[in-house]
Amino acid sequence: MSSPQKAASEIADMRLAGAGNQRIDWSDQLMPVLRGIRRRFRDEKPLAGVRVGACLHITSETANLMRTLCEGGAQIALSASSPSSTQDEVAASLVADYDVAVFARRGEDTEAYYQALNSVLDTAPSLLLDDGADLISLVHKERPEILGGIRGATEQTTTGVLRLRAMARHEALEFPVIAVNDSETKYLFNNRYGTGQSTLDGIIRATNVLIAGKTVVVVGYGWAGRGVASRAAGLGASVVVIDVAPVRALEALLDGCRVMSMAKAAPLGDIFITATGNKHVISKRHFNAMKDGVIICNCGHFDVELDLPGLAELAQEQTEVRPLVEEFRLLDGRRLYLLGEGRLINFTAAEGHPAAVMDMSFANQAQAVELLTHSSLEAGVHQLPQGLDHAVATLKLESLGIEIEKLTDEQREYQASWEEGT
Ligand SMILES: NC(=O)c1ccc[n+]([C@@H]2O[C@H](COP(=O)([O-])OP(=O)(O)OC[C@H]3O[C@@H](n4cnc5c(N)ncnc54)[C@H](O)[C@@H]3O)[C@@H](O)[C@H]2O)c1
Repeated sequence: MSSPQKAASEIADMRLAGAGNQRIDWSDQLMPVLRGIRRRFRDEKPLAGVRVGACLHITSETANLMRTLCEGGAQIALSASSPSSTQDEVAASLVADYDVAVFARRGEDTEAYYQALNSVLDTAPSLLLDDGADLISLVHKERPEILGGIRGATEQTTTGVLRLRAMARHEALEFPVIAVNDSETKYLFNNRYGTGQSTLDGIIRATNVLIAGKTVVVVGYGWAGRGVASRAAGLGASVVVIDVAPVRALEALLDGCRVMSMAKAAPLGDIFITATGNKHVISKRHFNAMKDGVIICNCGHFDVELDLPGLAELAQEQTEVRPLVEEFRLLDGRRLYLLGEGRLINFTAAEGHPAAVMDMSFANQAQAVELLTHSSLEAGVHQLPQGLDHAVATLKLESLGIEIEKLTDEQREYQASWEEGT
């Protein structure tokens, strides 16, 4: 018999559920911390009666977070946080095997994307999980009738947290949001190692290009950019970094990268990767200065980092030359290759972050959902308490069989004192 969740869902193809289930199980083996939380949720049912509305990249790792929340007693409606990141087989399995209502198809257009967000809000959720803050923004701007029923939300990424802090500054945020992104066990691992590896993975899967010997220009030396730069260097690239923040630029220099302006880097680079969370960081004049055959992509949250309308204006002809690779031929014959329509390349061309890092990110998410269910935080942007954040690191180390050093009483006393010197 079809459940209401199944009946409501809008996905690409239910027949893909078997393949999705295998992918979900594969990731689950690599997510021991989340599995531990799931076991506890199964026994304690801390989320009984909670209606979750989620807008997250629909990957096998996300599916394991959804399973965890379901085991805790939550009922879930899920949409994608980017039109091109959905794994259709995972969406099918979530509906068929885990009774999650899913509204997402890989490659949906912007209208379908927002329709899906509205379908999630139609389920009158009491808690939101967001990645990029589109769902939270939509509920404030267009669905105020359900605002009163929302206890709070979580936010997964840097761009979303920035938007939410802007809402809070303008006194526009009506409920508490836990910035999961800002947990140390999230951004230090997910943004850096996860994005770093999977971005290079996406570029390689899309193009089969050899990274060694290339000049790779990384725009933005934040947590994501640092990860991308270090992985590109590890594969033998010469890395150029662009950043507007002097400390970040200096750090990149001392990490062994060349640092310059975008105008100087444009004619030098072979591969350009944006990771700033900002708009048009590579603009029309930069595209116009690039060499023949360059590869351009983005791993920041939204597709605005590249000035795509400017690029289209420069092009005499646009052709898809491989899946996810679009050739822009300029008037003088130079060819620029844009990957994945300028959307998050690690999800568009690869599988998103490895499960081992999502284990920690989603352990933070699960704890944040539990906290929001059982506490009354004020409207605004909050961090997950450090104890919960650091517990994730402890559990991760335990799962890896690694025992770390402990402070002695003497050392603890010394650290807390001021009398003792040379
Ligand atoms: N692809 C993924 O899976 C993934 C994962 C994590 C984060 N993200 C996204 O990646 C982006 C960056 O995240 P982060 O955590 O590294 O953020 P961050 O704030 O740590 O770093 C952003 C960096 O970009 C720099 N910057 C801003 N404007 C710039 C400009 N015009 N030119 C050059 N540099 C500029 C900032 O000074 C900063 O150093 C965000 O959009 C975030 O949501 C994506």
